[in-house]
Amino acid sequence: MKKVIFIFITTLIVSCTTMETGRYSGLTLEEKLIEKRVDSVLNLMTLTEKIGQMNQYSTWGEPTGPGAEESLRMEDLKAGKIGSFINLTGAENTRIVQEIAMNETRLGIPLIFGLDVIHGYRTIFPVPLGEAASWDLERIEKSARIAAIEAAASGIHWTFAPMVDICRDPRWGRIMEGAGEDPFLGSLVAEARVKGFQGENLEDPNTIAACAKHYAAYGAAEGGRDYNTVDISERTLHEIYLKPFKKAAEAGVRTFMNSFNEIGGIPATGHPELVPEILKKDWGFRGFVVSDWNSIGEMIPHGYARDMAHAAELAITSGTDMDMQAGCYTRELDTLVMNGIIDEKLIDEAVRRILRIKFQLGLFDDPFKYCDPDREKEMILHPDHIEHARDIARRSIVLLKNDNGLLPISKDKKTIAVIGPLADDQDAILGEWRAKGLSEDAITLKRGIIQAIGENGTILYAKGCEIDDDSDEGFAGAVNAARLADVVIVALGESALMSGEALSRGNIGLPGNQEELLKAIHRTGKPVILVLMNGRPLTIQWASENIPSIIEAWLPGIRAGNAIADVIFGDYNPSGKLPVSFPYVMGQIPVYYNHKNTGRPMQPEQRYTSKYLDIPNEPLYPFGYGLSYTTFEYSELKLSSEIMGMEDELSVSVIVKNTGDRAGEEVVQMYVRDMVGSVTRPVLELKGFSKILLEPGQEKEVEFKLTAADLAFYGADMQFKPEPGTFKVFVGTNSVDLSEAEFALKE
Ligand code: GLC
Repeated sequence: MKKVIFIFITTLIVSCTTMETGRYSGLTLEEKLIEKRVDSVLNLMTLTEKIGQMNQYSTWGEPTGPGAEESLRMEDLKAGKIGSFINLTGAENTRIVQEIAMNETRLGIPLIFGLDVIHGYRTIFPVPLGEAASWDLERIEKSARIAAIEAAASGIHWTFAPMVDICRDPRWGRIMEGAGEDPFLGSLVAEARVKGFQGENLEDPNTIAACAKHYAAYGAAEGGRDYNTVDISERTLHEIYLKPFKKAAEAGVRTFMNSFNEIGGIPATGHPELVPEILKKDWGFRGFVVSDWNSIGEMIPHGYARDMAHAAELAITSGTDMDMQAGCYTRELDTLVMNGIIDEKLIDEAVRRILRIKFQLGLFDDPFKYCDPDREKEMILHPDHIEHARDIARRSIVLLKNDNGLLPISKDKKTIAVIGPLADDQDAILGEWRAKGLSEDAITLKRGIIQAIGENGTILYAKGCEIDDDSDEGFAGAVNAARLADVVIVALGESALMSGEALSRGNIGLPGNQEELLKAIHRTGKPVILVLMNGRPLTIQWASENIPSIIEAWLPGIRAGNAIADVIFGDYNPSGKLPVSFPYVMGQIPVYYNHKNTGRPMQPEQRYTSKYLDIPNEPLYPFGYGLSYTTFEYSELKLSSEIMGMEDELSVSVIVKNTGDRAGEEVVQMYVRDMVGSVTRPVLELKGFSKILLEPGQEKEVEFKLTAADLAFYGADMQFKPEPGTFKVFVGTNSVDLSEAEFALKE
């Protein structure tokens, strides 16, 4: 502890000196004080200790990548060769290791503990793709806030979230971890999650540093196969994949994580533009960049680095400040400096960034502020957290179909058959990346329905089949249960490990024999409600053509059963909208709403136009789609002007009316189309949305503002600016059912 006091006094003395040197210009006083403290610590460090700060290992906890170190690496820690651990959790465990760092290393620089807190710490929320379907930024931020409170109470300083990768290919398992296909929605969700994790002041002990990942374009992997090659244009990189990262940086995210993939032949971890030029220079990012798990070392199999020394050189010169689990920095950087291959200034810059975040977290002032077992007991699974988990889960549910108004079903006395491999599976509903979530905490659909109707009905349960095998042994029991019921709820979908990292699927239909089970139940002639629980869009063409009511519940987290029951029985009127397109069949992939028009846009009767012989161009369910138990009518789309100057603000308004008999929320969406540009432009781009609550018969005027900046894009010269010309503006309930108006943007 004496060392910390020594450092503190040193930094205090140093920090009183003048601070108007170049490096500090433009900083606030608080930032300058931290910079002085950082510099004072840096000046005390040996090269070995500096490199130690850049070295991160996984230990004690469940490894989240290949070849994890099993030992705690005690000798490395004591030699000051480790600056961060991941996957170590718990107020007590982190205190033990932090005490070693503080008391048994020469300088006593605090460790920073990281963990993948992706959709909850112990109170698990819907998977992020599901949460995005709520389009409820305030509640999405609240989920991250709660996750931070629980993680911080358990010794965690830093989460490797939000994952902000845009994805247009549902074969990719990690589509589950992001916010879908659209950069506008994805950017706002990224911002909400960063704010939730980091709170107002990172020094607060219930806040954690966030991490925008995976930088960049990881979701564009060819074939939807994880870690696969990415080869996209610079324009697509900027227009689609970088936007949520830029928004996260603007929101003050403290760290970035680079991605495993190459982009156009250069691995992101060693890319000379991505971090040094775009992130750190153009965007002014002052946090630090951590590699992904061994992504530095993997530049060797990429065929981009000769060996670990070369990989270390490429990574450090490309702005990767911390090495997660590759061991390249700790093994090679000192020699590279000694041999004059890299300048120690690069090391200093990386260490400065790392120390800066440790200071901002308050770890130098109190390295044990996150190690309070009493706070951990109080915060984990707090009732308020669990209530929010139920609330955000039901708001994430998307009603895909409800022919003849089968839903909601009343709670009056009836026999309900609850069938399917997802009906009572406590594990699947937590999804991957569940941090310290425990399946025993989870309420399944079966339990949720029992809790909802209590003694007022009879529940007949039959699993029917497994999630992913070909047996039909359970069909007979399921069919019998269905025959005895007044209404049948069939719960189908994916297991927790069918979406997430290294979990891509070449066939995204219902796994195993599930569709056959559904057909067997359908043949009973009973009214069937299909509840899907899955981490990605699925190809459900048969179900969409034959099953009258379909609910997309995603993997809804710890209170899945209650949330789905709330929707099934009408205690909550579903309001979710798809953040990603559901393909008609696999052959459509990639299919997304903000596509280009081509020179031969599809005309059904014209052979020589862009279409398929055997399937439509449109997805089965489009981006922004979702039904309600009530109905909404849009009218009176108005523009404040038909001409807009570069400095003007255009008002776009519409009247939305609840024309049904129950209150409901509607996500009113606004899109634009730039009709002609110096490069081709998408047929539609989301530029605004508003989630509103309307009582039966109530109507509201919803207004959006458009500025020329909202219409900017990367033109032929790759400059980001609007171009004068004709635009269309669209407003409606999804990306297809829209009313439109036109305006001109003038110089
Ligand atoms: C994994 C993931 C990354 C995660 C990291 C630490 O390989 O790609 O998202 O944050 O390793 O677990």
